Amino acid sequence: MGKLSTWRNGVMRRVEGRSAREIATLTLKTLRHTARSFSPAAARARRADQAFDRRWGTDTGGTMNLSALNVARERALLGFGYQASNGVALKDAMKIAAIDPARFTFIDYGSGKGRVVMIAAATGFGRAIGVEFAPELHEVALTNADRFAAAGGAARRCEMVLGDAGSYAPPRGPVFAYIYNSFGPVILREVLERLEQRAAAGEEIIALYVNPRHRNAFEDEDRWHVVADREDWVLYRPAPAAR
Ligand SMILES: C[S@@+](CC[C@H](N)C(=O)[O-])C[C@H]1O[C@@H](n2cnc3c(N)ncnc32)[C@H](O)[C@@H]1O
Repeated sequence: MGKLSTWRNGVMRRVEGRSAREIATLTLKTLRHTARSFSPAAARARRADQAFDRRWGTDTGGTMNLSALNVARERALLGFGYQASNGVALKDAMKIAAIDPARFTFIDYGSGKGRVVMIAAATGFGRAIGVEFAPELHEVALTNADRFAAAGGAARRCEMVLGDAGSYAPPRGPVFAYIYNSFGPVILREVLERLEQRAAAGEEIIALYVNPRHRNAFEDEDRWHVVADREDWVLYRPAPAAR
């Protein structure tokens, strides 16, 4: 099969059965995604990818559109594709949070290939969990966790969970939630509601929202208060009433 027909078949598979509105949304996302891949920020991200992967023998680089992955279509339309964090926001937010990471379970909601889960494990979190709904990315994350552990990256193995972030029930105990713009407000609210329930039951909860495009999901009903607000991340704790 020639390149053109492979490309055509791929496009047909992605648009099959979608409404005109869904195809328009998908096309817009693909165009934005392509434009971003040429930006200076994307070049910096590529260099960070390479440095991390060279050091640990992992594969955390690249970008991946959700339409190319094996995920339920109605959930894919509410989420964003893969691009790894570089760990800078986590490092900066940790200074401000002033917590002992060993007491906390770190959860990356929409963890992709698991880079920030590995960074969190190396930072000393008691547990480091990644929740990812795309099986292709989850498989890569499992291999990465093995390689990272074998290379001595962290004392405790990272836990990679295959599943939808919106239905993931966090374990008991203090939680440090990490969200790198993995999805829009619908799934974000599902995630936050579970965290709010934990907070109401007396658990200590902190949430770091990186590339915070849907802050309303946190801020609209005064359920969370802003601990720190930076150019590309916001650190939250549940508001006293929600605790
Ligand atoms: C921008 S990437 C972030 C990757 C990772 N958190 C990091 O910081 O390196 C967003 C990820 O969220 C995943 N995702 C989107 N919606 C999801 C959902 N409902 N449940 C689980 N994962 C989701 C995507 O497949 C993608 O891997």
